[in-house]
Amino acid sequence: MKPVAMIEQRRPDGSLRHLITLEDLGRQEIEALLERAQYYVREVGQRPPASERLKGVTIANLFAEPSTRTRVSFELAARRLGAEVVNIEVQLSSRAKGETMLDTIFTLQSLHFDVFVIRDAEPGVLAHVAAHVAPHVSVLSAGEAHLSHPTQGLLDALTIRQHKGPIAAQSIAIVGDIRHSRVARSAYQIFRALGARQLRIVAPVALMPEPREFVGCLRFETLEEGLAGVDVVMMLRVQKERFAQTEIPDGDEYFARYGLTAARLARASPAAIVMHPQPMNRGVEIASDIADGPQSVIRAQVSNGVAVRMAVLEAVAGGMSA
Ligand code: NCD
Repeated sequence: MKPVAMIEQRRPDGSLRHLITLEDLGRQEIEALLERAQYYVREVGQRPPASERLKGVTIANLFAEPSTRTRVSFELAARRLGAEVVNIEVQLSSRAKGETMLDTIFTLQSLHFDVFVIRDAEPGVLAHVAAHVAPHVSVLSAGEAHLSHPTQGLLDALTIRQHKGPIAAQSIAIVGDIRHSRVARSAYQIFRALGARQLRIVAPVALMPEPREFVGCLRFETLEEGLAGVDVVMMLRVQKERFAQTEIPDGDEYFARYGLTAARLARASPAAIVMHPQPMNRGVEIASDIADGPQSVIRAQVSNGVAVRMAVLEAVAGGMSA
């Protein structure tokens, strides 16, 4: 998997302009985003937060891969900050007729869009767009290939902080298809930046990342070993769309060997929480009773997604002149 060129994510004054990766974000920068996100968190059933901070800002959601939670929460986050938001169906737009991504972006820029929220299966598209847009424009990743999903990393960190306290006190196991997961990569980056006490990756050999990745993580091939004593169990979907399946057992067999069941979860700390970015394959990587059980914080992750995206949108576009 070839590395992708990094892009400067900050403006000359140091403020955040783009968010494509968490890789170069410092602890304080992350903490500030999480604090701001926490400010926007509301219990389900309460009235959602509303602000005019992004009044006059126009945001485009360009999703070239399926999405439910990320797309809807970016849209809600924009609206709750008073921005104008347009969802552009990338498959239906001119890109399908051969127009390059940049031509689409330049067209939208001419229509006064200020922020592009992009999900794409092609590594490097986000940095490419960011390198070419006008200086006032920001580019935010909503998931880039197997590489990066920064707002998911932030919402995962926020969820752990809310339920378990500081990341620095946690032993965290990331479990499943790590090799193909952008969620795992962004999680690793943010947990490292926040000084997690211990990081583990647990996966069948064929789904393990290369040794040069996830440096410093303990590696386990069984959940029985990998979950022993952990505080956080972060499950992942098998990303079937990203590889030709050969060595990976399907459905029932995967569940029998690598699925999170009550018996396997019992190996973790009794107060451990269970996370999953969704979409979930119940009965494949996770048992339904665990997904819906008392240790699951999966629904809290979804709620936190809107708060985190509000904090990020505000950080990149909150100072934009009307
Ligand atoms: C994930 C994604 O698209 O990376 N979903 C999400 O954004 N919450 C995880 C997945 O597709 O398995």
